[in-house]
Amino acid sequence: MTGQSNKNSLWLFLGLGIVALFSILPLAGSLAAQGNAANPWTAPAAAKEVKNPVPANAKSVAAGKELFEENCLMCHGEKGAGDGVAAQTLSVKPADFADAKLMKSETDGSLFWKMSNGRGPMPGWKGTLSDTQRWQLVDYIRTFAKSAAEEKAPR
Ligand code: HEC
Repeated sequence: MTGQSNKNSLWLFLGLGIVALFSILPLAGSLAAQGNAANPWTAPAAAKEVKNPVPANAKSVAAGKELFEENCLMCHGEKGAGDGVAAQTLSVKPADFADAKLMKSETDGSLFWKMSNGRGPMPGWKGTLSDTQRWQLVDYIRTFAKSAAEEKAPR
């Protein structure tokens, strides 16, 4: 081995390092973009199919309302439109439960999974609220799109 070939392999090494760096950069950028509001949030297929064992009725909706006012209203807002007082401080807008299109695209199982696990500023409630309480919340947040539609309907 001569000094010259050592020098050559050093340059080769540096060159490869630079190539590797530039191929990693776009990947790092796409990872940083996660948690963005434009990034769709979907529950796993199995979670979407889970059936709601707590039927929506006056009792479950009333229980859900109480839980919502205590734990969710500050971000999701009184009418569920994602405009609670704390929403302004967040980098991601809380979901708008009055949006009939969004709510139609979500199964009860999907809503349950999302509120259980959370994402970004949205806390996961699995450890804080019982299964029954989280299903009651599903029943309650479903009422927002209905009342928004009624408010818009011509009389
Ligand atoms: C600190 C603010 C905050 C609190 C408190 C909060 N949320 Fe959220 N929530 C968010 C944000 C922000 C998102 C949107 C997250 C995203 O898209 O990455 C969200 C999204 C959701 C979604 C997903 C909707 C969808 O279809 O994509 C559900 C369901 C939900 N929240 C339910 C609840 C419930 C129920 C509570 C109370 C037990 C609650 N949240 C409390 C901020 C909050």
